[in-house]
Amino acid sequence: MIITPRVRGFICLTSHPEGCAQNVENQINYVKSKGTIDGPKKVLVIGASTGFGLASRITSAFGSNAATVGVYFEKPSAEGKPGSPGWYNTAAFEQKAQEAGLYAKSINGDAFSDEIKQKTIDLIKADLGQVDLVVYSLASPRRTNPKTGVTHNSALKPIGQTFSNKTVDFHTGNVTEVSIAPANEEDIENTVAVMGGEDWEMWIDEMKKAGVLAEGAVTVAYSYIGPSLTEAVYRKGTIGRAKDHLEATAFTITDKLKDLGGKAYVSVNKALVTQASSAIPVIPLYISLLYKVMKEKGIHEGTIEQIQRLFQDRLYANGEVPTDEQGRIRIDDWEMRDDVQAEVAALWEQANTENLSEIGDLQGYRTDFFNLFGFEVDGVEYEKDVNEVVEVPGLV
Ligand code: NAI
Ligand code: NA
Repeated sequence: MIITPRVRGFICLTSHPEGCAQNVENQINYVKSKGTIDGPKKVLVIGASTGFGLASRITSAFGSNAATVGVYFEKPSAEGKPGSPGWYNTAAFEQKAQEAGLYAKSINGDAFSDEIKQKTIDLIKADLGQVDLVVYSLASPRRTNPKTGVTHNSALKPIGQTFSNKTVDFHTGNVTEVSIAPANEEDIENTVAVMGGEDWEMWIDEMKKAGVLAEGAVTVAYSYIGPSLTEAVYRKGTIGRAKDHLEATAFTITDKLKDLGGKAYVSVNKALVTQASSAIPVIPLYISLLYKVMKEKGIHEGTIEQIQRLFQDRLYANGEVPTDEQGRIRIDDWEMRDDVQAEVAALWEQANTENLSEIGDLQGYRTDFFNLFGFEVDGVEYEKDVNEVVEVPGLV
């Protein structure tokens, strides 16, 4: 079939297998171009199919020759219906990995459930014995806690007072004022339950009990801080409470891994266009200004550049892993540079519907958004018929 984008707000209902495959190939080529990393050898990535998790899997495999197991929640392709982008990304990745002689298998299902954790542990036991790195990169609007059976829905709200600021509809370029009413206690608790560290700790507990964590195993989860501009809705909002919890959980997990000589890290990453971030109000406007400034300075990075640098210069640089005073790895260092933030803040003041495509990188935002779904990717012939049914070679 011929597949075209069908956009509804901040999601796209269709995705293109060849565009997704090309994105994955580009990421693989980037990692290879940066040389070998003295990194992990057997890796589990939870949330492995898109965004930072996919980049982590690609960096592990093609930067460090690692065997990888990926866990994700994606829609398979079917006759007449494209699968979700993470399905096609994983198909392309596993094909390339297996061609390169690298072990690559995956599990599609709810990572929050006991069942998927058990299935993953069984697979590791049978095929790899143990893993030396666990990447935790889930982004989800809801989670059913397997112990209580309660389903929690996260909220993206400020805490304490209504937040009003500019936002953009990145399709139309319309800059408007948005007001978001404050969260109640329940919103906060639910968001922490979904995006905090509880499930990360459950994974590590189960894996340790099963003996599938190697001596010196490392685990890393991803966080975000960002500027004062977005603080009320992000870091000091409901999602920020969840990130506080996630960051605190790293210390809890490190304690639990002491006898194995293992360690848990949180890496604070740069703001980027992903399916998760396009859903957060105000963030798309910030990102479009940030992209403009960082591209002009020659320091723009995408998910693969971020994670490749995280592995090469931080996690596996040999020696002490550099962290901030709160123990966090900072790979958002270029985003948070004073000169970058001062310029973004000045542009923010001026930004309106008329000037945004000039002063901001609205086009870059849109292209990245369409790229997530395999569209607008260079070198792909979109007018050509493609087979929408694609197998994931390592799917268990
Ligand atoms: P994403 O939406 O691209 O990836 C989410 C992944 O989680 C996908 O592989 C998806 O299949 C998987 N997933 C979601 N629900 C699942 C479930 N129930 N079971 C199994 N798999 C499930 O998101 P992104 O942006 O890569 O986010 C990953 C982490 O990075 C999050 O913790 C996010 O807060 C963090 N982060 C994101 C930033 C951004 O600007 N996008 C910046 C800094 C941190
Ligand atoms: Na991810």
